[in-house]
Amino acid sequence: NEDVLIAPSVLSADFTKLGAELDAVRDADLVHYDVMDGHFVPNLSYGTAILKQVKAATKLPLDVHLMVSNPEVQVPWFLEAGADIISFHLEAATHANRLCAQIREAGAQAAVALNPATPVCLLDSVIEDVDLVLVMTVNPGFGGQSFIPNSVQKVRKLSELCREHGVSPAIEVDGGIGVGNARDIVEAGANVLVAGSSVFKPQDRAQAIAGLRAQGRL
Ligand code: DX5
Ligand code: ZN
Repeated sequence: NEDVLIAPSVLSADFTKLGAELDAVRDADLVHYDVMDGHFVPNLSYGTAILKQVKAATKLPLDVHLMVSNPEVQVPWFLEAGADIISFHLEAATHANRLCAQIREAGAQAAVALNPATPVCLLDSVIEDVDLVLVMTVNPGFGGQSFIPNSVQKVRKLSELCREHGVSPAIEVDGGIGVGNARDIVEAGANVLVAGSSVFKPQDRAQAIAGLRAQGRL
């Protein structure tokens, strides 16, 4: 069994000392970067200027989660800014397959994200074109929300869908993930854990990451 990847979400970091915050999570596997446009989700976060600074301040790959309407407009901006993985929401994309191809052609990994109310069967026509599926386990827009319990069942269904198609994209879960639910969701098939408040709230970020890792080791 492969180890899960831990992706701290900088949305929960202290932005007045972002360099130190990134340094404190250097034992993680990815940096999760949440882009909110105030339209697809009811909140604003940050864009490419800060992503470039984050890229200069960490060696970890950048996992960019676009919670934006019309992602086809913004994907090129984030490719240019150095994203290693780009997730766009299936609910917001009109030509998901084309957008995945565009991301891959630029040398990044293509991912689609699903809101909690979006069923996994909608992935049927795109699952063979993605490197990763991001399953939202809260309604996107804010850090620190509670994990939606039926997400475990949803990830199980997604694992089945992947098996049926003979593909094995990474399965990332995002929202309310902590030591209390990491094991269940990994057992269901998730192998990338986003963690905002459960990594940045504790004083010792390295220990928080190690704790999540231990839960993910089945
Ligand atoms: C929510 C974002 C998440 C968020 C996770 O809209 O997509 O990545 O930062 O934060 P926690 O882990 O605190 O729920
Ligand atoms: Zn996210």
